[in-house]
Amino acid sequence: MTEPYLRFDNISMVFPGVRALDGVSFGAHAGQVHALMGENGAGKSTLLKVLSGVNRVTEGALWIDGERHVFSNAREALRQGIAIIYQELTLSPNMSVAENLLLGQLPATRGFIDRRRMREQATRILEDLGEAGIHPSTKVRDLSIGQQQMIEIGRALLRDARIIAFDEPTSSLSVQETRQLKRIVKRLRDEGRVVLYVTHRMEEVFEMCDAVTIFRDGQHIRTHDNLEQLDQDTLVSEMVGRDIEDVYGYRSRDHGDVMLELDGIEGKGLRAPVSFEVKRGEVFGLFGLVGAGRSELMRLVCGVETAKAGEVRFHGHARRFASPTEAIRAGIAMCPEDRKSQGIFPVASVADNLNISCRRFFKRWGVFRDPSRERANAEKYIQQLSIKTPGPRTPIGTLSGGNQQKVILARWLSEEIDLFVMDEPTRGIDVGARRDIYTLLYDLADQGKSVVVISSDLAEVSSICDRIGVMRDGELIDIVPREEATQQRLLGLALPA
Ligand SMILES: Nc1ncnc2c1ncn2[C@@H]1O[C@H](COP(=O)(O)OP(=O)(O)OP(=O)(O)O)[C@@H](O)[C@H]1O
Ligand SMILES: [Mg+2]
Repeated sequence: MTEPYLRFDNISMVFPGVRALDGVSFGAHAGQVHALMGENGAGKSTLLKVLSGVNRVTEGALWIDGERHVFSNAREALRQGIAIIYQELTLSPNMSVAENLLLGQLPATRGFIDRRRMREQATRILEDLGEAGIHPSTKVRDLSIGQQQMIEIGRALLRDARIIAFDEPTSSLSVQETRQLKRIVKRLRDEGRVVLYVTHRMEEVFEMCDAVTIFRDGQHIRTHDNLEQLDQDTLVSEMVGRDIEDVYGYRSRDHGDVMLELDGIEGKGLRAPVSFEVKRGEVFGLFGLVGAGRSELMRLVCGVETAKAGEVRFHGHARRFASPTEAIRAGIAMCPEDRKSQGIFPVASVADNLNISCRRFFKRWGVFRDPSRERANAEKYIQQLSIKTPGPRTPIGTLSGGNQQKVILARWLSEEIDLFVMDEPTRGIDVGARRDIYTLLYDLADQGKSVVVISSDLAEVSSICDRIGVMRDGELIDIVPREEATQQRLLGLALPA
């Protein structure tokens, strides 16, 4: 094989108290999609930040097309044709699509920005991306996440980046958006670029990647240049350093009385009244495509929105919650899907971020805090969910993406709650840690609590839930017991008729 176009040469990256990358060496070829995999906190995003010049390496260098580079800022990396599509998108929300696309290279005539040319260039690139539906003057804040990602890719194309890296690009995309993204990734590869692709999704690796590199604890474990002889179990055990026979580890249990009852609920996001019940000790799944109304439905139950009709009965009493706080007081908590934007305080500690809700909702006398209880609570979940952090007092902003997710998930796991509604609880979370989260859900159910899991992950809902409600276009189509919940059946119900 030819020399790799891009080579990481003995890269180390040390933060105070953390060795995020430890002597990493491997190469990536032009014309290939190269997956980067590893547990939460393994160092994947840090490696991309080294590549983009955001992090200056502690040791080592990059080789690009036979030349040695050590970037000390992002501009130097840009000049070498490197573009990173981060998970937290970096566009300016209040500027137009055209301005965002052409930022830094706006066409000018005698010192004035040439708006007409700008719009033309933007239109061309949007068409090229298959996004002709987006108008160049639309404000970026009005685009979906998937569309914003396309604008980021457009920016990379306009600069003709030779190396394009994606950090978990499909984790918040709809099915259609995911398909389109995959098409474009393949095209970038066929054009002879180097594509690096960070993902936690096994099926994406086998479907669209040509090579995969595995990291563990900042170290390079292995690069597979040929995926044909590779199987999923090998990948998993290389990633987590042990065999996991069954990620889902389902446990059955007896169910008690009905805890939650929905009777003809109507409201925002629904097209027909919804009725179902959830028993004590039950893990109830809600499956559907993005936009099917699952989150909207549960928001009506949990007091985020108000139902227009119907009744919610909780422990046998009709309840109507005017706010999420009221629902939480009654014992229902909803851990939202968009956890990052739901108030993470990056400079505050892991412990403070984790304890926020119990402090806000359960301390009658809000000004008093109970430091020892808070510390114990933080330590408990750091251990139980294997949150990778130097300690409870570390600022949460320095944790890896998946570990931040775990902290915010733990925020909702208070003992006073009887019914947990979890919206996409394992998004962005690695296989090993997913196993921890599933175990925690089963433990809650064993204690007689109930869990409603909203998930777009077919393998997940069909494997961990006792029953699965399938929604499509704002309607509850069917409720399928676990024994009958094949992936094919669930998908068949969820897809447009
Ligand atoms: N700015 C920083 N300051 C201190 N530590 C950091 C900083 N950035 C990253 N780290 C640490 O470096 C390690 C690697 O983090 P990184 O974000 O690269 O993980 P990752 O593989 O992308 O994980 P995930 O799958 O959760 O996104 C983690 O232990 C993280 O806490
Ligand atoms: Mg990351």
